[in-house]
Amino acid sequence: MSHSSKNIQFVAQPGGNLSGEVRVPGDKSISHRSIMLGSLAEGTTEVSGFLEGEDSLATLQAFRDMGVQIEGPTAGRVTIHGVGLHGLKQPTRSLDLGNSGTSMRLLSGLMSGQAFDVEMVGDASLSGRPMKRVTLPLAQMGAEVATTEAGTPPLKVKGGCQLHGIHYDMPVASAQVKSCILLAGLYADSTTCVTEPAPTRDHTERMLKGFGYPVKVDGATACVEPGGRLTATTIDVPADISSATFFMVGAAIASGSDITLQHVGINPTRIGVINILRLMGANLEVLNEREVGGEPVADIRVRASQLKGIRIPEDQVPLAIDEFPALFVAAACAEGETVLTGAEELRVKESDRIQVMADGLVALGVDARATPDGIVIQGGPIGSGTVESHGDHRIAMSFAMAALRASGPITINDCANVNTSFPDFVGLASRCGLNISSREA
Ligand code: S3P
Repeated sequence: MSHSSKNIQFVAQPGGNLSGEVRVPGDKSISHRSIMLGSLAEGTTEVSGFLEGEDSLATLQAFRDMGVQIEGPTAGRVTIHGVGLHGLKQPTRSLDLGNSGTSMRLLSGLMSGQAFDVEMVGDASLSGRPMKRVTLPLAQMGAEVATTEAGTPPLKVKGGCQLHGIHYDMPVASAQVKSCILLAGLYADSTTCVTEPAPTRDHTERMLKGFGYPVKVDGATACVEPGGRLTATTIDVPADISSATFFMVGAAIASGSDITLQHVGINPTRIGVINILRLMGANLEVLNEREVGGEPVADIRVRASQLKGIRIPEDQVPLAIDEFPALFVAAACAEGETVLTGAEELRVKESDRIQVMADGLVALGVDARATPDGIVIQGGPIGSGTVESHGDHRIAMSFAMAALRASGPITINDCANVNTSFPDFVGLASRCGLNISSREA
C-alpha cells in the first residue's frame, strides 16, 4: 500500500487558542521554481528555506531523473548543479509527480522544448485534473503533448518539436498555465507572450529575472524572448503564506489567540487572504516588511476578534485561490453570511474544494450551501463529528483549525497528503496550542 493510500486520521480536540512566534515551511510555488530554474541555469544555485514537502520533492526527483545533480534537502538547503537550458537528459522512467499539479503543468511546458520524449504521471487526484488548459496552447506553439481522452494525465510529451512563439490570451486566471507557456517560450523561435484575465502569482517572472533572464511585463502581459540563458544564483524561499493561512484563521477565530507568523512571503499576487480577513474584521498586522531575493516578506501578527460575514470581492479570488478552505472556516465563525462567487476554479483543485468544504461544514452542523461557482455560509456554532478531506491537504488542515471553535472533537479522514505542502503540521500546530493528534486508522 502506498503511503498516501493509508488513512491517516487527524483528531482535533475542541477549544484552545494559538500563540507564539512561528515560521511555517517554505513557499511551495517558489520551491518548485527554484529546482526548475536552478537546473536550467549555468552554475551552482544554492537554495535555503526549501519546502521539504512531497510536492516540491517530486519536482526535485524529476530533475534528478533527468540527470541533474542535486544535493539535499538538508534543513531546507538544496544545492543544484545546473546543466543549462539544453543539458537535461532523457529519464529512464516516467516522471512521477505525485499529487502536484504545479509540477505537471509547469513541466509540460519545459518538456515540450526538449529533444527527448517524456511521460508524466501522477496520483489518483492529479490523474483527474484538467490538462487541456496547458496542452491546447502548447499545441499552438507546435508542441505535441498527449493526454487521455478526458484531457487528464498521464501526459506524453514528444521531444524534438520546434516551438514557435505565440501570444496567448489565457481564458482562465492561472499562474500554472502562464508559467507553462513562458517556460516553453524559452525554447521557441520567436517571442512568446501571455496575457492574463486577472493578476495571478508572478513567481516565475520574478525568478527568471533573478536568474538574469529578461522578462518583459506590461500590465497583464508577460513576454519572453528565446535565446537567453539563466545564470545560477542564491534563493531564500520565504515561508508559505498559504501554510501561514491556517494559523492566521485559527488565531482570528479562537479567543485569546496572539500569534506571529515569521518571514512570510507577501507577494502582492498572494495576499488575498490578508485582504479578505481584514474585510471580515480580523485583527491582523503586517510587520517588518522587507525584500528577500526579489520577493517581499513580512511577519504577520494575528489576534482573535469577532469576524463578520462578507461578500468576497471577485478580484480577490485569484489572489487567495489556495486559501478558501481555511477562509470558509473563518466564515463559519463569523457573524452573518459570507458569499463567495466567481471561484469555479476551486472545483478542479486537489479536490472539489467547494463541494468537499460544504459537505464537511454541514457534517459539523454549519449552514453551508455550495453554488456552481462558490459557496454561501451562515456563521454559527460549529459542532463535532467526522469529516472527509478527500486526500486534500488544505481541506484537512482547515478542518483541524475549526476544532478551536467546535463543541466536541473533529475527526478528519485521509490526511496523508498534508505532507505534500506542510510536513509536521501536527507538531507545529500542537506547539502553538491546537490539541491535535494524528493516527493510522
Ligand atoms: C500555483 C498556482 C495556482 C495554485 C497552486 C500553485 C503555482 O494554481 O492553486 O497551488 O505555483 O503556479 P492555478 O494557477 O492553476 O490557479
